[in-house]
Amino acid sequence: MSKKAEPIRSVKGTRDLLPPDTVLWNHVEEVARTVFGTFGFGEIRPPVFEPTELFARAVGGETDIVSKEMYTFEDRDDSQISLRPEATASVCRAYIEHGMHSLPQPVKLYYMGPMFRRERPQKGRYRQFYQIGAEVLEALQPGQGGPKDIPKDAAIDAEVIEMVMTFFERLGLQGVQLDINSIGDKNCRRKYVETLRAELQRVKDKLGPDSQRRLETNPLRVLDSKLENEQPIIETLPRIGDHLCADCKAHYAALRQQLDLRRVKYRENWRLVRGLDYYMRTTFEITAQGLGAQNAVCGGGRYDGLVELLGGQPTKGIGFAIGEDRLILSLQEQMRDSASLPLATRLPAGQAGHSPLVYIAWMGEKAQATAIRAAQTLRAAGFSVEWPPVEQKFGKALGQADKLGAKFALILGDNEVSSGDWTLKTLADSSQQKLTEPQLLDFLRKL
Ligand code: HAM
Repeated sequence: MSKKAEPIRSVKGTRDLLPPDTVLWNHVEEVARTVFGTFGFGEIRPPVFEPTELFARAVGGETDIVSKEMYTFEDRDDSQISLRPEATASVCRAYIEHGMHSLPQPVKLYYMGPMFRRERPQKGRYRQFYQIGAEVLEALQPGQGGPKDIPKDAAIDAEVIEMVMTFFERLGLQGVQLDINSIGDKNCRRKYVETLRAELQRVKDKLGPDSQRRLETNPLRVLDSKLENEQPIIETLPRIGDHLCADCKAHYAALRQQLDLRRVKYRENWRLVRGLDYYMRTTFEITAQGLGAQNAVCGGGRYDGLVELLGGQPTKGIGFAIGEDRLILSLQEQMRDSASLPLATRLPAGQAGHSPLVYIAWMGEKAQATAIRAAQTLRAAGFSVEWPPVEQKFGKALGQADKLGAKFALILGDNEVSSGDWTLKTLADSSQQKLTEPQLLDFLRKL
């Protein structure tokens, strides 16, 4: 006797998204497309793998993402390829590759799809996860740039943030908290980082091994520490807000004013530094409830200069990415907690468990031909239909209809086929009515 084959399991940190959850995923993506569309964004679908060099240059070789978490492999022609850990780098590459600087500026793009990071899996953290993101790119025209652009740049930042908040609001996401910060530009940040490093050197002995390492590689990341015993030390460290140059300070003030004008509520958080190297000035993060430690559902910021770093011309950029897995988790948590959800988070009627609207119970050869036609007509009209593939006694078929949660059973036997009057049974109250095919369609459409 042959040995039973071992089942193969999915790779650690990856998972299958299954119905009925996928209904909510599709709903969330549909709302994103609608809301982003009203803000003038078009969809881009970049590849899921790219030259490793793209992420090394854009995200930064010293960052955790690039140094520890990327899935990198050598292709058969010896080139180094990586599964994308994020998509901002890809969007900038595509902007350059397709000469989008010659389109009317700014170019506004959104994307959704899987990203890959080899992190330690836990609730809300996966090795394959999904992002919904958006980027605004604007090539500098001759004479553009400098302090006079600050009001415009800040207004674009605020509108991008307003768009995410509108999206969350449309979904009925609760407990949303927006944190904002400015991390300055490459000049004032460099000076601040030196001041910070000097101060950290003084308290080095009181820091844990991770922060001691970051002190050398990227002192700003020490501010991200969640270690209890490091918190009092971090609170005494110099704050970037006190070290911004005049332009960065003006940009940050204009951003707050623009957010106020849009009635977007925020909290200033001087410790918000983000884990990717390309940011400058505006950074932001949004948290939501029900997520535990991994509670950031969205992160973003401004990245002027990134396109240039990737070989394009001087270009400004601002964008964000939402962790779709976390957004869905938070919405599901909310649904468990509350019976009275805002309308938009309720699932489209009849789809929640993929229950059919109509179950066709048929008996007899002629009835099978009629059932096939009825199923085709009803599905073409947009109604979900289920039916047994082989003949089944009516009693058994109706039991199956009940089990699947169908609303109606369409009963087709010899009598129905010869008279053209079909029997429709409402399963909730067992009431029956006789309808011709056009009457049936009419009845279902009016529901
Ligand atoms: P990020 O902060 O690395 O930024 O990721 C954005 C969001 O993706 C996070 O807030 C989180 O919700 C989700 N996320 C990240 N890693 C995981 C994971 N392992 N499992 C589940 N969810 C995760 C970026 O990726 C930037 N590209 C955002 C951006 C766009 N900045 C400007 N434009």
